[in-house]
Amino acid sequence: MKKNIAVFASGNGSDLQAIIDGCKAGRIDAEVCVVVSNNSKSGALARARDEGIPAFHMSAKRIPDAAELEQEILMILLEHNTDVVFLAGYMKKIADSVLQKYADRIYNIHPALLPKFGGQGMYGINVHRAVIEAGEVQTGITIHKVAPEYDTGEIVAQCTVPVLLDDTVEELAARVLAREHTFLVETLAKILSQDMTQ
Ligand code: GRF
Repeated sequence: MKKNIAVFASGNGSDLQAIIDGCKAGRIDAEVCVVVSNNSKSGALARARDEGIPAFHMSAKRIPDAAELEQEILMILLEHNTDVVFLAGYMKKIADSVLQKYADRIYNIHPALLPKFGGQGMYGINVHRAVIEAGEVQTGITIHKVAPEYDTGEIVAQCTVPVLLDDTVEELAARVLAREHTFLVETLAKILSQDMTQ
């Protein structure tokens, strides 16, 4: 039986699109059952709606009470029969109740080789800038289970991406993101086929 993946995303949603396309092409034996975003203007919500996938803007702006917001997000996941949650560029912390309910079934993608270049403030372009400033010759992608602290939790898969001489931050970011699109499809397919979700 196909699994249901709930995707949380705050930004453009190109990783989300890769997951949707991977499911549609049969490379991942699953469907994106719902998309949640804290950003009403995110490309992620627009992409989900274009694809006819239920999409919810869930933010403190809309629901100021933190406990209520957390409860509603949990309800959305339950109502859409979520098996696995995937964080694809999601900029908010996941509430404890959601972490408990989906323990070991929430994954995040990080655009560097954790445990290097992770933690507070290490998101978006900051990650790639730090990699270049550190003089690294290689960076990569990490897919890991989500734990209460940012960018911690068991590492499930990693792949490397070269840092080229004279790379700008934008060039490196684009190279890593392009590789994310294939790597996350490969990895999600493995996660689901090995039934690491039980
Ligand atoms: C990716 O680099 C991902 O690793 C990070 O956020 C970015 C999402 O990009 N966590 P997009 O919004 O899917 O294009």
